[in-house]
Amino acid sequence: MRVAIIGAGKMGRWFTKFYLKEGYSVIVSSRSKEKLLKIRDEFGVEIADNVNAVKSADRVLICVPIENLEDVIKEIHSYVRPEQVVMDICSIKEIPVKIMHKYIKIGTTLGTHPVFGPGVKSIKNQNYILTPISNKEKVFAENFKSWLEERQANVFIVSPRKHDELMSVVLGLPHFLGLVACDTLLNCGNFFEMKRVAGASYKMLLTLAEAVASEEPEFYASLQMTLPEIEKIEGLFFKKSREWLNLVRRKDRSAFANKMELVKTKLMEVNPEYAKSYEVMHRLLEAIKS
Ligand SMILES: NC(=O)c1ccc[n+]([C@@H]2O[C@H](COP(=O)([O-])OP(=O)(O)OC[C@H]3O[C@@H](n4cnc5c(N)ncnc54)[C@H](OP(=O)(O)O)[C@@H]3O)[C@@H](O)[C@H]2O)c1
Repeated sequence: MRVAIIGAGKMGRWFTKFYLKEGYSVIVSSRSKEKLLKIRDEFGVEIADNVNAVKSADRVLICVPIENLEDVIKEIHSYVRPEQVVMDICSIKEIPVKIMHKYIKIGTTLGTHPVFGPGVKSIKNQNYILTPISNKEKVFAENFKSWLEERQANVFIVSPRKHDELMSVVLGLPHFLGLVACDTLLNCGNFFEMKRVAGASYKMLLTLAEAVASEEPEFYASLQMTLPEIEKIEGLFFKKSREWLNLVRRKDRSAFANKMELVKTKLMEVNPEYAKSYEVMHRLLEAIKS
């Protein structure tokens, strides 16, 4: 099996290593010649332009930013053969799947989202989402799911729309909170002094803030601008912040405590495992403290 990886950036490099380890033959193409030569020298893989990579492969994995996906698909679509599978790995799925369907009429396409970054060591215990639409895609997705599960990944099959709704909450909101928290903390006085005297909750917040703020701005901007439900969810966060802030402003201690009690009760209702996760969080807090 020969895989063409298009895009020799962070994820393209990760998947090159991954498929080589799996014993696949890998050919890589990318826009920047420099990155391409680096990946060739480092991993000993073949390199080519996008079209020749597609022509020589059984399977194609497109690892470019969403903004560049349509250009790549336009360039390669007429070279896709009936037995080939073309997958993208964009972190949103509705737009990429539409783009692939618009141009690729021969072969099988599949929207995929590895929900992990290039820093992970292996696919074991990582989440991987597949978003097939047609029957042909569903059949391939089930096979690919089994293959990934043999490698101990957690695989989910959902529609592109459902994927994007989920990601608005599980990616978009924490990114937004991390950035706003980081921006706030940097305006709260001496950052390093606070870190020195801080307890576990501040350290947890800082972990999120620093992790998000150290990421690639273009990638994070792209997610915030394209996730479909993001404005609604972040708007809700803003509304909730105002509600809590109003209680603090009014110094309404009992209303604050009641609201917090309500949140705890609701959490217990939606997540009966809450007591257990609370224990886990406590252990986490203790670990951060030590
Ligand atoms: N990073 C993550 O944590 C993560 C996690 C899951 C999924 N993803 C998804 O993975 C994709 C890639 O992300 P990344 O972090 O690897 O981005 P990246 O490091 O910026 O790499 C993207 C690569 O695509 C290349 N490229 C752009 N246009 C191209 C074209 N027309 N033909 C060939 N190559 C082209 C770029 O070339 P240049 O070097 O010339 O710019 C670059 O090497 C994105 O869709 C992202 O949503 C990322």
